[in-house]
Amino acid sequence: MVALARKNSPVPALPAYADEVLASLQAAPKWVAAKFFYDAVGSELFERITELPEYYPTRCEMQILHDHAGDIAKLIPAGAALVEFGSGSSKKARILLAATGALACYVPVDISAEMLEQEAVALRRDMPQLKVLPVAADFCKPFDLPREAENAPARVGFFPGSTIGNFEPHEAATFLHNAARILGKGAVLIIGADLVKPAEILNAAYNDAAGVTARFNLNLLTRLNRELGANFRLETFEHHAFFNRERSRIEMHLASLKRQKVRIAGETIEFRAGETIHTENSYKYSIELLGALARGTGWQPLAAWTDPKNYFSMQAFMLSNSKTADLTP
Ligand code: AVJ
Repeated sequence: MVALARKNSPVPALPAYADEVLASLQAAPKWVAAKFFYDAVGSELFERITELPEYYPTRCEMQILHDHAGDIAKLIPAGAALVEFGSGSSKKARILLAATGALACYVPVDISAEMLEQEAVALRRDMPQLKVLPVAADFCKPFDLPREAENAPARVGFFPGSTIGNFEPHEAATFLHNAARILGKGAVLIIGADLVKPAEILNAAYNDAAGVTARFNLNLLTRLNRELGANFRLETFEHHAFFNRERSRIEMHLASLKRQKVRIAGETIEFRAGETIHTENSYKYSIELLGALARGTGWQPLAAWTDPKNYFSMQAFMLSNSKTADLTP
């Protein structure tokens, strides 16, 4: 998002998300929603994370997709619209798209507009027969599908990457409920979710030796400096990541190394020495737990696939008939 200069004013307007970030930094404890990691540099850094030796989720998920693309594609009816939530680089959708028959369209939905356009151009070049209709939106909030997707006989949701793990469990339920509304009658939803596993493996994945995850975390402050006129000094904050077993989640924080004041969006935020900004939760699910969460929002588990090490899962759900009626707007 770019701050637009107000007419007749030397002060640039703040982006629309300023209030959201400010409120969460004025809360106790301080936090910033993980979706704000993904400016252009943050999206780049995340792509680099996915290639780190310690960061297993992307490789495991890609392996599941490669090994089971045929079976997964069987759940996508001919002529359906494929809607991807948080598409990023579309690398995973490409595997599914290559395994499916003709589709009405592919609708990548992502908060990072730059990434979305780049990837749409590349995908149209590689798959000229496919209608690629990107939607730049925050999929935590309601958004409209393009007409071609609305008119398709069915819509299949694709939510890979364990992005669902960034939500609090009640937010994940809200997402599942909204996905049911957006996708409508006869919908299928395919979700990639990271599984619970030993803490050493999890901790290593979020504390890589090359320090890319630390840069990814700290880049949030660079973004706030640039876009919200903040004055965070990056050398006074440190990347912390650890598995919270009780809550079954990786937590990422930015810890202030000293007592200090920071200006942001015209306000002052005070930090105690060691005080943190909680920047991300990455929940780890069992297949059973995600299945139960989905059932509670009207989705019926259809199938689940895992990689040979059982690190990651791909799970498919169908909108169950009983709940379809009261989900129709
Ligand atoms: C994109 C949310 C799946 O939680 O593993 C990677 C983001 N954060 N390393 C994750 C992330 C730190 C990632 N997700």
